[in-house]
Amino acid sequence: MTSAVFVLNGPNLNLLGKRQPHIYGHETLADVEERCRGQAAHHGLDIRFHQSNMEGQIIDWIHEARDHGLAIVINPGAFTHTSVAILDALNAFDGPVFEVHISNVHKRESFRHHSYVSLRADGVIAGFGTQGYLLAIERVASLIKVAAAEADAVS
Ligand code: DQA
Repeated sequence: MTSAVFVLNGPNLNLLGKRQPHIYGHETLADVEERCRGQAAHHGLDIRFHQSNMEGQIIDWIHEARDHGLAIVINPGAFTHTSVAILDALNAFDGPVFEVHISNVHKRESFRHHSYVSLRADGVIAGFGTQGYLLAIERVASLIKVAAAEADAVS
């Protein structure tokens, strides 16, 4: 059984680099994936990197993470603000969950200020651009190191 950090992206993030670059920047999602893979590899971690415009597909990947995921890093896009179903799926996952937003959602329209996903997330990163994904992976790597050190101390 493989274990990986699941990096999940919601609707419209396939257009990263093309849509509203003044808000989301010029990097593409493929660029973000490459940087995430590099950051994870540096820590000896595997990545499963996905994007979908379909809520059900994102939920299926969260379910997959129940068996194969060390942690979930998720940018749910607009589903952040609407999806109880994604919240429920994340609540069925036992590992750490980090919510990432490229933009600072709190500086934007009020409907972006509420996040269902934040009710489950162990940490939220917003407004750090695409670097937010790397910061979340860094956090996952340090949590895994701490857990390994604790397990060593016990054995
Ligand atoms: C976003 C913020 C959401 O409000 C928006 O719907 C997105 C992207 C972000 O990364 O800043 O699609 O999650």
